[in-house]
Amino acid sequence: MQDGGVTVESVEVAVPTRKARIADVPTMHRLINQLAEAGAMLARPLSELYEHLRDYCVIEEEGAVIACCALHVNWSDLAEIRSLAVEKGHQRRGLGRILVTACMDEAREMGLSRVYALTREPVFFERLEFTRIGVSELPRKVWGECFRCPKFPECDEVAVVYDL
Ligand SMILES: CC(C)(COP(=O)(O)OP(=O)(O)OC[C@H]1O[C@@H](n2cnc3c(N)ncnc32)[C@H](O)[C@@H]1OP(=O)(O)O)[C@@H](O)C(=O)NCCC(=O)NCCS
Repeated sequence: MQDGGVTVESVEVAVPTRKARIADVPTMHRLINQLAEAGAMLARPLSELYEHLRDYCVIEEEGAVIACCALHVNWSDLAEIRSLAVEKGHQRRGLGRILVTACMDEAREMGLSRVYALTREPVFFERLEFTRIGVSELPRKVWGECFRCPKFPECDEVAVVYDL
């Protein structure tokens, strides 16, 4: 374990996650927004990454952050897994699974009962045993945040949930 993170055994080697630090933010910003430009996920401004830095964990390799993910608490029983981004050249190595598992462990530790994601990659989450649901089944998310989204109410993401 490093710096409050968790270690999950992957097929070949244990890859540690750690909580994000201020110095990681420019790299996380580039990582998320490059994938967002390619249409894979929502962009995040720097201000939001700094404000929500404590939500984020990262995976670092040879001194560089190559993947990140956030766990954002919405309510007493609900948290969102969001801004999951794995650098293109490092995808399909199990890093996404490790980060989501770390966020789920953190949510469990906090006493939350459900995590969800809004995603364009529902099959990835289904591999992690999440289940698809309608976005309208997440009213706290919809009325707390989605209604500010420029795409609202024509959401092109799929909601997936996991009961902890
Ligand atoms: C989606 C993403 C996070 C997956 O991360 P990853 O590290 O490549 O995924 P993993 O290697 O941990 O894959 C875990 C499992 O999901 C499967 N998987 C991964 N990406 C998949 C995809 N796009 N479609 C279907 N299955 C996928 C893997 O084959 C693996 O299955 P297995 O355990 O049965 O072998 C990554 O591709 C990414 O950053 N994409 C761009 C941004 C994005 O879509 N983020 C999600 C926003 S919520």
